[in-house]
Amino acid sequence: MSSVGSLSFSLTVFYIRCVPAPNIDTIVSLAKRRGFVFPSSEVYGGLGSAWDYGPLGVELCNNVKQSWWRWLVYDRDDIEGIDSSIILNRLVWKYSGHEATFHDPLVDCRECKSRMRADKLEGYFPEGGRLGEFDANARLRGGLVKCSNCGSTNLTDERYFNMMFRTTLGAAAAEDDPAAVAYLRPETAQGIFINFLNVQTAMRRKVPFGIAQVGKSFRNEITPGNFILRTREFEQMEMEYFVTPDAEHLQMVDEWTALYVEWFKGLGIDGRNLKLHEVPKEELAHYSKRTVDIMYRYFPERAEEERQWEELMGIAYRTDFDLRSHSSKPVDEEGKRINADSTDDLSYFDEPTKTRFYPHVIEPAAGVNRTVLAVLMDAYSERTNDKGETRVILKLAPQLAPIKAAILPLAKNKPEIVGMAKAIKRSLQPMLRAVYDDTGGIGKLYARQDEIGTPLCVTVDHQSLEDEAVTVRDRDTWEQERVKVSELAQHLQRRLQA
Ligand code: GAP
Repeated sequence: MSSVGSLSFSLTVFYIRCVPAPNIDTIVSLAKRRGFVFPSSEVYGGLGSAWDYGPLGVELCNNVKQSWWRWLVYDRDDIEGIDSSIILNRLVWKYSGHEATFHDPLVDCRECKSRMRADKLEGYFPEGGRLGEFDANARLRGGLVKCSNCGSTNLTDERYFNMMFRTTLGAAAAEDDPAAVAYLRPETAQGIFINFLNVQTAMRRKVPFGIAQVGKSFRNEITPGNFILRTREFEQMEMEYFVTPDAEHLQMVDEWTALYVEWFKGLGIDGRNLKLHEVPKEELAHYSKRTVDIMYRYFPERAEEERQWEELMGIAYRTDFDLRSHSSKPVDEEGKRINADSTDDLSYFDEPTKTRFYPHVIEPAAGVNRTVLAVLMDAYSERTNDKGETRVILKLAPQLAPIKAAILPLAKNKPEIVGMAKAIKRSLQPMLRAVYDDTGGIGKLYARQDEIGTPLCVTVDHQSLEDEAVTVRDRDTWEQERVKVSELAQHLQRRLQA
């Protein structure tokens, strides 16, 4: 037995077998067990690839979003925030190009009956071929494309499937009434573009400046899966950075990429689990001249290194495509308006040069859910003791931890100790998220807090009643120190910011 102050515990040697999450399934199980993420609609057998965020999951998501918002909107002086509608005028999606091109090619395997995205299959693209610029069905019929499930080349022709969720507006609207058709937004970006002039004029901004938005987006994905990695409803953190037409756009993509890599590292993600991917020309979205994806190692269990990675976010150079196509003025070669429906011109007048132009855009687009998954996988670690017992420790960055401090009474049958612990919890709450817990022995309580990533535990014991001090225990080192209650709030805040 060893003791710190009057706190006694048995000494079992735990050594760190610092294994990060071996696979996504490990996180799925932890997430459900400890209240981060639950399968949605479970009482009715679930709903393919929909997930609900539990008490700890909602805090973690909020902390990720808050970190992002502070970093871009508060810490910098050149970015404004907005929150636009999810349902926009259908014409937004006509002129953004989504109605015509936001679709995936779909094929079925005649052998194993799997349904897949054709453009993800081996052999789909010819050398240098860009989506829509080669005869994909000729390749499919010629046996050049392989089923990702069984390897067969006996595949159907491809069919295009638009991924936007359709709905109709108004109680009286018929299902097929084109005037009533609306979509759930597939990206938050368009809400930013159509508000470009509103924000610029209201906030008296000069280019370069950015507009940030966090919110839900919806895509009727053909093959959702891998937990919260690919779902039909998800959350994005997008920022459109408006610059002059002659800025160094391609270089700015690199600059924003580097900034985001640092931001992810600041969230506790190991740089070795991040890598950059220059999206090949043939795979660029219709609006993009260049896109770099930041990839995360979501599949460390896969033997081939190149199959371990999936997109965490993308940084695109969108040119002036969106502002120009939502504007009333631009005309085609024959002098006809490109957009016959817009009532506004989203060009910008640059006072110093007395020129008018459509700003170009650098767009870093990140997913909240994919960031949360990467953060959980990277924070996951296990400690095993000499008896072979394993403990999970979630080494979340303090800024992301759902609970910053747990206040634990050493004896729950002692009203004075319980009263003091509850009073400490109440006094800390205005400064940081704290919880009180007395539902087990101290060892179990510590283990539970370790597993959900609480950086600090505060234990109130018998001696606390006399010396007005408590024991503060560190999640990562398990070291304990005695701190005066009068200095506790400051002490915890300092430790959490370190
Ligand atoms: N405005 C550009 C845009 O939306 P994107 O690469 O299609 O670009 C940006 O999406 C990010 O949104 C992705 O990198 C990913 O983090 C997230 N995302 C996209 N589709 C998703 C899905 N089905 N499930 C979860 N996250 C998704």
